[in-house]
Amino acid sequence: MKGIILHGGHGTRLRPLTHTGPKQLLPIGNKPMSQYALEDFKEAGITDIGIIIGDVYPEKVKGFYGDGSKFGVKITYIYQDKPAGISHAIRLCKDFIGNDRFVVYLGDNILRKGLVDYTKKFQNSSAEAMILLCEVDDPTRFGVAELDGTKIKKIIEKPKNPPSNLAVIGIYFLTPKIFDIIDKLKPSWRGELEITDALDLLMNSGNTIEHDTVTGWWKDTGTPEDILHANQLVLDSIGTPNQFVISHDSEVRGNIVIGKNTTISRDSFVTGPAIIGDNCTIGPAVRLGPYASVGNNVTLKKCDIENSIIMEGAKIDAKIHLVDSIIAHQSEIEDHTHPKKHQFLLGERSQIRL
Ligand code: TTP
Repeated sequence: MKGIILHGGHGTRLRPLTHTGPKQLLPIGNKPMSQYALEDFKEAGITDIGIIIGDVYPEKVKGFYGDGSKFGVKITYIYQDKPAGISHAIRLCKDFIGNDRFVVYLGDNILRKGLVDYTKKFQNSSAEAMILLCEVDDPTRFGVAELDGTKIKKIIEKPKNPPSNLAVIGIYFLTPKIFDIIDKLKPSWRGELEITDALDLLMNSGNTIEHDTVTGWWKDTGTPEDILHANQLVLDSIGTPNQFVISHDSEVRGNIVIGKNTTISRDSFVTGPAIIGDNCTIGPAVRLGPYASVGNNVTLKKCDIENSIIMEGAKIDAKIHLVDSIIAHQSEIEDHTHPKKHQFLLGERSQIRL
C-alpha cells in the first residue's frame, strides 16, 4: 500500500498564520501537524509516501521532510498548481500510485489511535474504498454519511440538514478505480472537485464502500480554535519529564515534557500537561500551563500562559495573562504597563509592545 498526505490548500481560516507557511506545518504538541499523518503511515507499514504540495511555501515542506529518510520513509512530492479540491489532488497521484491500493490522509487531520487496524482491514478487503466515520456535534461542517442499516447510503458535503451526526473524517482508503471516477466529476458550487462526490459516484457505479467507526479522538484542525483543542488532546497523552534545570524556588507539576538546556527559574511554576522545547528560558515569575506547548529557543518572563501555543524563537517579557493564544515564530511581546488579560492570534515575526 502507498500513502498520500495532502499538504496543499489555501488555509484561509488560519490566516495570518498561513501567510508564512502551510497550515500543516503548524506545531501541535511541538510537532508539525502533518508529521502525525506521516508517523501513522509508518506505524502501519506504509513507507512509500506521496506529499501533495501547493503554492503556500512548498519549499518549507520539502525542507522539513526532505526525501523522508530521517523519518524512515520514502517521500515523493507531487505539485498541485491550484487548490482545486481533494479529488483534484488525488487525481494528480495516478502515476505515483500505479496499481496499488492506497490511503489518503489530509495533512491537517489527527487521529489518536493511528491507522494500523484500519490498514489491515482494508488490505484484507475486496472493497473499492473504505472511509472512517466519527460522531460529531456539528455535522454541518463536514462531509456526512447517511447509513441504511450498516451500509452507507449516501455521502453529503456540509449538509444544511444532516441525515446523521457521522462525519467522514479526512482519511480515505482507496484503489486506483477512483481515478476514472474523478475524471467524471464536475466542480461543486465552490469550484472544487469534492472527495464526497467522488465517493458517492464510486458507490453509485456499483462499487462497495466499507466503513469503520473511529474510537478515541479525531481532530480536523482547520481553525485556530481547532488547533488549540488538538493541542489539548495531544498534551493529554504526553509522557514524563526528562532533561532540564529547575531552580529550588520553582516547581513543575503534572505531566510535562521539557527539552535539553531549558531552565525554569526564579519563582516559576509549570503545570502540566505541557511541553517545552530545547534551549528555553522560563522565568523569572512565570506561570505556565496547563495546556501550553512552547517551542525551542523561547524566552518567557513575568507572564502567565495557559492553553496556548508559543512557537520557536518567540519572546514574551511582559506581565500579561495569555489565554487561548497562538504566538508564531520569532514574535515578541514586551510590556511597559500594568498586568492585563489579552487574547492574541499573531503571525510570524509580529511584535507587540504594551
Ligand atoms: P480544507 O481545510 O478544506 O481547505 P484549505 O486548506 O484550503 O483551508 P481553508 O478552508 O481554511 O482555506 O482542506 C483540507 C485538507 O486538504 C488540507 O490539509 C489542505 C488539503 N487540500 C489540498 O491539498 N488541496 C486542495 O485542493 C484542497 C482544497 C485541500
